[in-house]
This record gives sequence, C-alpha cells and structure tokens, in this order.
Amino acid sequence: MAHQMIVVLDFGGQYNQLIARRVRECGVYCEVKPYTTPLEELKKLDPIGFIFTGGPNSVYLEDAPHADPGIFALGVPVLGICYGCQLMAYHLGGRVVPAQDDSAREYGKTETFFRTAVPLFKDLPECGVTWMSHGDYMEKVPEGFALAAHSKACPNAAIADVERGFYGVQFHPEVNHTENGVEMIRNFLFEVCHAAGDWTMDDYKRSAIAAVREKVGNGRVLLALSGGVDSSVCAALLAEAVGEQLTCVFVDHGLMRKNEGSEVEEAFRPWAMNFVRVDAETRFLEKLSGVTEPERKRKIIGEEFIRVFEEEAKKVGAVDFLAQGTIYPDVIESGAGNAAVIKSHHNVGGLPDHVDFREIIEPLRMLFKDEVRQLGRELGLPEYLVSRQPFPGPGLAIRVIGELTKEKLDTLRDADAIFREEIANAGLDGRIGQYFAVLTNARSVGVMGDGRTYDYTLALRAVTTSDFMTADWARIPYDVLDRISTRIVNEVVGINRIVYDITSKPPATIEWE
Ligand code: XMP
Repeated sequence: MAHQMIVVLDFGGQYNQLIARRVRECGVYCEVKPYTTPLEELKKLDPIGFIFTGGPNSVYLEDAPHADPGIFALGVPVLGICYGCQLMAYHLGGRVVPAQDDSAREYGKTETFFRTAVPLFKDLPECGVTWMSHGDYMEKVPEGFALAAHSKACPNAAIADVERGFYGVQFHPEVNHTENGVEMIRNFLFEVCHAAGDWTMDDYKRSAIAAVREKVGNGRVLLALSGGVDSSVCAALLAEAVGEQLTCVFVDHGLMRKNEGSEVEEAFRPWAMNFVRVDAETRFLEKLSGVTEPERKRKIIGEEFIRVFEEEAKKVGAVDFLAQGTIYPDVIESGAGNAAVIKSHHNVGGLPDHVDFREIIEPLRMLFKDEVRQLGRELGLPEYLVSRQPFPGPGLAIRVIGELTKEKLDTLRDADAIFREEIANAGLDGRIGQYFAVLTNARSVGVMGDGRTYDYTLALRAVTTSDFMTADWARIPYDVLDRISTRIVNEVVGINRIVYDITSKPPATIEWE
C-alpha cells in the first residue's frame, strides 16, 4: 500500500534522522534522501512536502551543497531548517551573509517570539525557547516571504511564504530543547502539507506481510536469528507471512546473557516455522581461547558465526531467500561523508559466502528502531524481546576484559542479571538507554567474613542516550547502586569490588572494549 510521503533532503546536519523520526511519529511516512538526489527521482516519489535539513556549511561558499532549485517549482511545500532555511532564502532571491559580530550568531537556547497567525505556529504560544545553532545571517528575506518569528539577535528567526507553502526556521524544531518543536513539525505536515496521517504500524504489518508473501511465493527463506530486536521482529514477520517455508537458525555462541538463549527459543514457540538452535559455545570458546585484543575478538566471533551458520544452512538445503533484519538507519545514504571507524561493529547476519540463495529480503529496511519495536508488539512478540536494550553481536566477549573463560563468563552473567533485576525493581529500566556489567581484569584485596579475598572488580555501566553515538552516564540513585553492589558481592563468587563508570561518550565509548 502506498503512503503519502515527506522527503527529508539531507544536507549533512547532525539531526537528520531525528527529523525523519519526528515526522513518522506524527503518522506521516518519510524518507531521507541525499541532497544530490536528481530532481526526476524526487518527482517520482511524489512527496506531499520537503524538509531541508541543517548542515555544517555556509550557502555562499563555493563547495556548499545545493539542491536542484527545480524543487521550488513543483508546487510542493518546503520547510527549511537552519542551513535548509538559508539555502531556500538564497535560491529564492534573499541574501545570506556571515554574521558580522557575535550578537548575530546564535547557539543554544534562545527566547523566540512567533507570529501565531502563520500556519506553522498555529495554536502555539507566542513566545518559547528554541534551539539555535547558526553563524550565518539572512540579511534580505526573499520576495513573497514575511517574517514569522524573531529573537533578540535575529529579526528573522523564521520566514514564511504562506501562499506557496514555503517556510524557513533558523532554529531546530526537531530537538527536544525547542519548546513545541514537534508541534511545529506537526503543523507543517497537517496545516501546510495537508497530510492524511496514514502511516500506522498495523497498516505496515499487513502490507509488509502481503509483500513478503507475494515475493516469496512457494520459496524457502533462511534467517540468522540473534535474539536481538531486529532479527526477532524480522523472524516474527516472516513466520506470520510464510510459516513453515521459513527456517530460523539461532546460533547460541555461549556469549549471551543469563537465560537469554532459552528466552529466545520460548518466544518463538507459538509460530509454525522451523527453528534451529545450535549450541556452539564450546566451539566459540576454543577459538577465543587466549585472545585478549577486542578487535580480534570481534573478528573471530564474526567469522565463526558465519561458519556455523553456513554449516547449518547446508543441512537445511537449497533456499531461495536469505532474510536480514537490516533497519533504516543502516541504509540511509547520508549527505555527509563517512565518520571515522572507532570499533568494527560486528552484527550477526553478515553475508555468508557459502550459502546459495537467489535474493536477499529485508522487510524492516524502511523502519526506525522504535518502529521495529512497535511492529514486534503488533506481531505479538513478548515485551522482554521487543523492548530489549541493544546487545552487541560479540556479546559478553567484549564485556569480559582480556582473556575469556567459561568461568568468567558465568560470573559476569550472574552479576549482570542482578544489575538488571535491581534496575527493573527500581523502575529505571525504561529510562536508561543501555546498562550492563563489565568484568574487568583487575583483581584487588578484600575482606569477607574473617578472611582475605583477592577477587575481580566488576564495573557497572549505564548510559542515557538517544542515538548511541553520544551518551551520558546515568545518574542512578545511590541507594539503588548500594543495593546492586551489596547483592553482587554477596551473591556472586569471584567479585569483591564494584565500581560505577561515570564517563560519558565521548571521550569514552559505551562498551569497554
Ligand atoms: P560503543 O561502545 O561504540 O557502542 O559506544 C555503541 C553501541 O553499539 C553497541 N556495540 C556493538 N554492537 N556489535 C554490535 O552489534 C559490536 O561489535 C558492538 N560494539 C558496540 C554498543 O552495545 C552500543 O549500543
């Protein structure tokens, strides 16, 4: 089923995916496209509106990214954000210049005054805080545009050509710091683009199932199931669509959290499909024996995973489709360059060389993570699978610092389970993006009863984050930390000291390895 679409044209700003998520949260489908997308291609998408994102550049620079100005002749509304606003002004005859002095540059929270007669600000308060981040200044507003908002430093914090449906804002409505920002986006969608709000997960579920059925026909589908949210939802969707034609191979590498393997198996029992669980713990531990370097661990696990999967796939026999739980953030082609690789994230589901298949299917390819979770709920997956926090492909191997042993893994599993249990008991699990225990390779002296101990130090890591690219350490109340610490040293043999990691990312990363 075709949905109305908003195109988010990406000029390399840092909040681009956030804009797209906000639009979808309003019930309107949207896709992020690089600013270089040819006009003809954009036309084919038949969007009901465009949103131009921010970007790190200045429009008057020679190598500044420009969209095809033909967009403004399509008769489709445009909302320009920050750089996007300046670009629109530039193309439509306005003048943008570098701010001459600091008073015209704006960064951070800024008190802003709105003309609420303008559809973009309809029914909103006349004054509110916005998040600004611009060094350029719109000296002359293009013909046909009127001022729609101002701040102390900036007479044109927002501009509007109501007739043509062109709006520009110097601030970022998509970030939480802008009061009523989501409402502004909603106004753009519903008051300006007249969106129907036809993007719902129930709808998506039905159309995705129909699409998979049509594509797969009588064919056979193979999926590597990791037990993470994406592959689990992918498995449930495929099971719903093609039932016994699906085989899920769940490689239990022995690096999962406590009881996780059984939970995954249990969750899929209701579906009629072929579920293969491979117990490969010994094999993985042998390969990892003596390995201490994090990147080597990742590489070994990634490769071994593929080997095990290939062996199992051979037993299944010929398949037509290899399914993958790829999601939208993985496929968005950015308007900016590639960021530096800090860690080689291995994800289960890399492409095996020795499995014969005709085609790859990726039924979650257009969904954001939150939408994947919602779809999982629609499909009836249990909440503990759907709301599961991210768990790295290499699993606990990168949470036992240095050399791995089964004993250390078991110790970590027990401690980690207590940590998670107490966080849930304190009602904090929905508020912390990711939390887990790390078994360090530091040993220290302690005293227990009347005896001396010389045991491992366990680190607790908990972060709040919206995108996992940056993160802040979570302010867990002291009494909760105290309960966790007391329980772990009392209940888990081999640990006599607990530390809490209070570094943010950057400069640290979320995982320790
Ligand atoms: P870092 O440690 O890079 O982690 O700040 C960011 C997010 O990525 C997860 N992570 C991984 N996920 N394979 C994965 O699938 C990996 O090798 C890997 N390393 C880190 C980490 O848990 C966090 O959510």
